[in-house]
Amino acid sequence: MKTKVLPFSRESVSEAAEILRHGGIVGLPTETVYGLAANAYDPAAVCSVFAAKGRPQDNPLIVHISDIDMLPLIAEDIPDIAKRLARAFWAGPLTMVFKKKDTIPYETSGGLSTVAVRMPDSEAARAVIDRCGLPLAAPSANLSGSPSPTTAAHVLNDMDGKIPLIIDGGECRVGVESTVVCFKDGKIRILRPGGITLEMLSEFGETEVDPAVTERLRDGERALSPGMKYKHYSPKANVVIVDAHGERFRDYCETHKRGNTLGLCFGAAPSGMFLNVGATPEEQAHRLFSLLREADERGADTVYVEMPSKRGIGLAVYNRLLRAAGFEIVKV
Ligand code: TXA
Ligand code: MG
Repeated sequence: MKTKVLPFSRESVSEAAEILRHGGIVGLPTETVYGLAANAYDPAAVCSVFAAKGRPQDNPLIVHISDIDMLPLIAEDIPDIAKRLARAFWAGPLTMVFKKKDTIPYETSGGLSTVAVRMPDSEAARAVIDRCGLPLAAPSANLSGSPSPTTAAHVLNDMDGKIPLIIDGGECRVGVESTVVCFKDGKIRILRPGGITLEMLSEFGETEVDPAVTERLRDGERALSPGMKYKHYSPKANVVIVDAHGERFRDYCETHKRGNTLGLCFGAAPSGMFLNVGATPEEQAHRLFSLLREADERGADTVYVEMPSKRGIGLAVYNRLLRAAGFEIVKV
């Protein structure tokens, strides 16, 4: 199959909607990362998304809507707190888990009786949903296990020949996937941190961070968010988080080279083996995945990463790095 990459336009949106209505899959930009979209109601279409990614079938997909009126078609028992969060943060990088309606097949929900829903803040994604009139199941458009794509070129790199169309909407603004929350006993529980932060959610009610966000699950433990149990976001190189900053971090990288070694810095990066992810947590989130991909392009064997801040979207950066590193942290 030939994979076309078209800029976001009225024509590309119609073409995408046509493919989706006929059970096909399309690469779409969102404000977080690019998604691989299919009709959320169509089990066969959803199965072809799992096949294109090489994704385990028990890892459920997020269903994307373009209007709050679509929510009651796919989910029920929506708590009041969720309605308030939707008013505050949709369209945007917040995914909420609800009891699913029978309209959503178990293929989409990974066998669960719940469904994760979000309204993306991307003109292109919402235009495609509007145009085809369907909720779209869309995981990140990377091969399972590799870093999520934040440009159309990343999607093409992973999906060339597997999907008919990618809409190019430029670089994703946020750069890490949406915050996933569920609701329990009137509390908000963060299953995956993202652009809508713990601090922001706490203004609306008591908010807890699921232990699987920052800790490795013990054998036999069940993740509330199945995606959290997989090694993830990982380039081919061995990623190691170094619990040090600035010059101490750079000294560590220089004295502990293992093969072709790169150091990802948060702030200043002298040239040579170092790359700068950015000084603020927002910049770090925006560039992290693309730098992990760059590490592969440079043929890195080892990637040392400076310990990020865990505040704001920094918690999402830390969470993704922990998984890329297989929880390997060295103390200096
Ligand atoms: O920003 C995003 O959320 C991107 C863009 C494309 O919208 N999508 C994305 O999808 O990251 P994916 O499939 O790569 O990650 C979905 C995450 C997984 O960790 C999955 O386990 C969790 O959401 N999830 C989905 N449905 C769930 C459910 N019913 N209960 C708990 N967790 C769920
Ligand atoms: Mg993903």
